[in-house]
Amino acid sequence: MIKNLIIPLLAASVLSASADEAQKAKLLEIGKANFATCMACHGADGQGLAVGDKKMAPSLAGSSIATGDPAVFALSVLKGIQKDPANLEILGVMAPLEMALDDEKLAGVMTYVRNSFGNSASVVTPEDAKKFREQFKDIKAPVLRADLAKTAAAK
Ligand code: HEC
Repeated sequence: MIKNLIIPLLAASVLSASADEAQKAKLLEIGKANFATCMACHGADGQGLAVGDKKMAPSLAGSSIATGDPAVFALSVLKGIQKDPANLEILGVMAPLEMALDDEKLAGVMTYVRNSFGNSASVVTPEDAKKFREQFKDIKAPVLRADLAKTAAAK
């Protein structure tokens, strides 16, 4: 009797775990292809492209923005980050990329960055990406780095 109940339950949980793995693998593949959008500044290895003794962009390895709250990461990519004129070590500007990435590409690239370069963080699904785009739709300008978390929380 109990056995008849437990076996289907076990089978269902194994199946959903492999569905999650398949979705993650697909997102990583999409993300890797679309990381081309980020490479010009962050480098193929995510360490930030070096220009002399300066960098185009900061490293994404161990970045608390990339691996932390996905809403803050999504806000950075969708709207860009307002340039801090005091930071002379970073030459580039984090551009708003909402037009360049649809929900699946955004989810892929975020999942890829969160699980590459030594990072290990949760998957971001296309449904999450859609939700973030909707959540931040009224923000029309790049956000100051210092205000990213506050802005994400307020929306
Ligand atoms: C045109 C250059 C450029 C492109 C393209 C670009 N970035 Fe950036 N990115 C920057 C710069 C510059 C910063 C630093 C912004 C600041 O703090 O002033 C940055 C910051 C970030 C940060 C915050 C990192 C931290 O912890 O300091 C993340 C995360 C990030 N970018 C992800 C991405 C992703 C993902 C893509 C591609 C979808 C991308 N960027 C494309 C230039 C770029």
